[in-house]
Amino acid sequence: MSGKTLKSDLKKVLEDASKLIKDAKDLSELELFRVKFLGKKSLLNSFMKSLSDLDGEQKAKAGKSLNITKTKINDLISEKKKVLSNSDVKKDDGFDPSMPGKESSIGSLHPITKTMNYAIQIFESLKFECVEGPEIEDDFHNFTALNIPDTHPARAMHDTFYLADNNLLRTHTSSVQVRIMDKENPPIRIIAPGKVYRKDSDITHTPMFHQIEGLYIDKDISFSNLKSIINIFLKSFFEEDELKIRFRPSYFPFTEPSAEVDIEYIDSKGNKNWLEILGCGMVHPNVLDMANIDSSIYSGYAFGLGVERLAMLKLGITDLRLFYENDLRFLKQFQRT
Ligand code: PHE
Repeated sequence: MSGKTLKSDLKKVLEDASKLIKDAKDLSELELFRVKFLGKKSLLNSFMKSLSDLDGEQKAKAGKSLNITKTKINDLISEKKKVLSNSDVKKDDGFDPSMPGKESSIGSLHPITKTMNYAIQIFESLKFECVEGPEIEDDFHNFTALNIPDTHPARAMHDTFYLADNNLLRTHTSSVQVRIMDKENPPIRIIAPGKVYRKDSDITHTPMFHQIEGLYIDKDISFSNLKSIINIFLKSFFEEDELKIRFRPSYFPFTEPSAEVDIEYIDSKGNKNWLEILGCGMVHPNVLDMANIDSSIYSGYAFGLGVERLAMLKLGITDLRLFYENDLRFLKQFQRT
């Protein structure tokens, strides 16, 4: 093996190797080329073996050239390996482990739903049973049975959405009082949360809003029982023992006497204000009698809480409409409350 032929042989080997390695389709083909050019049966290896036939200086020279070629081929293989490893993964199933993950957003309950659930939980701890009634009501349950006969002016206080066949969208949850009194005998101790509807829309009114009705009928129930339960509920709901609560005389056809309850709050300018949050009173004897409950034996109290009002005060919101615009920037603020 002369130095000159070795040199051109090595050049040829390197040329062949680089061409094949460059075009290798995948990692297994690359491995075949590695065996072909660097393995035991490769041309390079046979050159290595025949080095022993050469003497001193020639041997050293030829050895050096062989090593250089070997290293070059090795380098080409490693380079190609890197390229193929990356593209192999992508080609396989489109999965790129180096891409950042997509964050999935978990939904949460609406702040009004949360407020309502929280209030229900407090009433349940006070031994009120939670019941529901229909949102599409008839005139009788929404008005007549609540001591609001056809010609009563109080009907005008409710901006009612009327439907066909004497039906309507209930204007208050008080209609559930009637349904429960028809079905059950005293003692009755229930709350009835849900949606109510009135033809109203401005900063403090939406055509649909939520109420929680409360009703307690038994022997010897008095206004002081009503005051006490409202006090306990509100102080617990706002987690504030010093909460200022005001009972203001009012009028509802289905309660006598009647009151509205305001609570004191500090507005955004730092001024003290009162906000009305519920209507209440002692159930009118006419209402009990119409439901076949003897008003000479039983008495009871009822109240109707405005859930949106509670939520506004609890969460510090001044515009009611925000609750129903479904702007995620608003809603997301209450994800953890
Ligand atoms: N139904 C009344 C309203 O919607 C509230 C209320 C309920 C008043 C029960 C007294 C007793 O305004």
